[in-house]
Amino acid sequence: MADSWVNSAERIGADLHLDLSGPGGRRAALTRALREAVRGGRLAPGTRLPPYRSLAADLGVARNTVADAYAELVAEGWLTARQGAGTRVAERAEPLRAPARVTREAAVRARGPRHDLRQGTPDASAFPRTTWLASYRRAIQQAPHEVFGPGDPAGRPELREALSEYLARARGVRTEPGRIVICSGFAHALRLLFGGGVLRGPLAVEAYGLGFHRELLAAAGARTVPLPLDADGARVGRLARERAVLLTPAHQFPTGGPLHPARRAAAVDWARGRGGVVLEDDYDGEFRYDRKPVGALQGLDPERVIHIGSVSKSMSPALRLGWMALPERYVDGVLAAKGEREAWASVLDQLALADFIAEGAYDRHVRRMRQRYRSRRDRLVAALAEQAPHVEVTGVAAGLHAVLRLPPGTERATVRAAGSRGLALDGLAAFRHPTTDMPAPDGLVVGYATPSDHAYGAALDALCGVLPPL
Ligand SMILES: Cc1ncc(COP(=O)(O)O)c(C=O)c1O
Repeated sequence: MADSWVNSAERIGADLHLDLSGPGGRRAALTRALREAVRGGRLAPGTRLPPYRSLAADLGVARNTVADAYAELVAEGWLTARQGAGTRVAERAEPLRAPARVTREAAVRARGPRHDLRQGTPDASAFPRTTWLASYRRAIQQAPHEVFGPGDPAGRPELREALSEYLARARGVRTEPGRIVICSGFAHALRLLFGGGVLRGPLAVEAYGLGFHRELLAAAGARTVPLPLDADGARVGRLARERAVLLTPAHQFPTGGPLHPARRAAAVDWARGRGGVVLEDDYDGEFRYDRKPVGALQGLDPERVIHIGSVSKSMSPALRLGWMALPERYVDGVLAAKGEREAWASVLDQLALADFIAEGAYDRHVRRMRQRYRSRRDRLVAALAEQAPHVEVTGVAAGLHAVLRLPPGTERATVRAAGSRGLALDGLAAFRHPTTDMPAPDGLVVGYATPSDHAYGAALDALCGVLPPL
């Protein structure tokens, strides 16, 4: 007998897959399948099973077959049957495998660190649940039927429209909806551009950056060449025979400064002269605290810069929504790399984000988060001034993380000491390009957005407690 999907959903609350193949008659097969479902945890303790009649009808077996199977499992202790309460999974039914013995370290890993100051995540407790749901509801209610079909790989026109207005207003991006392609975030944009054959390596990258992005580029066949950094940002004068350069101009990741205006211009000049392209990673461009907004580099030359952004820092990396504002000549190639249909970014989420932006909720959320992160940053700076005045804190004019400069030779021991006290953070070395020859300063990258408000004070105390003495 073939597998069967039981959909007596009014009883068991969900479809249940019962494999009725195997040796023996139908009764034996059903008994075995139900026993496995209980043992494996697919039927949870207390779950009420369908009455004989409806399960028999769903499976195409006789009522007595079900009754016999239930009776046998009651006798074995997997099920309980009480007058008026129907047949249920026994409360003490043991799961298939007793949990493996967990080591203390594994348990700590599973629970997560006690204090989390790793960069990369916005304050997850501040996700705008209510306004996002309102946008989602409006978007679904107003959506034409075609929205529920396969999507256009360019992305929903409503979102591209909203983004072109927002990016022009908030980031100085010069684009139009026809040049915006929606993707599932910055990492996806890199995959499309290099894995999709739109661009080729070698590609210059900043000597400090996300290793994950370098690995992703390597996997797409693009070799990365490190550009050293100094106080003015990436030394773009070192650009040579590459055809593309990836920069974080608004807020160098992770060291924290903006790219100097002369270097911004030089990067664009290089791209013009070389027939190359600048990839602008605008990962946290909205979060500046010093009233000196640093607009998008793309505004200098929309034909030489690919501007890439996402909601991962401004809202949540769980949404997996991002965008590229492309020079005209790359639009078709990127669309071809995406495929015939939208296979990456939920069309419904795209519509919700379009509504969220158009209604002003995105601006309000970013403003609120900017205030929250600014006050987090101020508390970090104040705590260090009081408890570790010898530790210099840099890169604090923008973003969701800061860099603490440590005395030479102390970074590794500090990161290790932090780990042993349940404080998760990264040292600068974790972000260093493996082949750069620039000096390697000792430092910590402190993500001050990650903990929720109530956990932040304790995380700061833990940080100050592990910093090396003068
Ligand atoms: C340097 C950098 N670029 C880009 C991103 C955004 O990545 P994604 O849009 O793939 O989540 C992040 C993290 O949020 C980042 O740290």
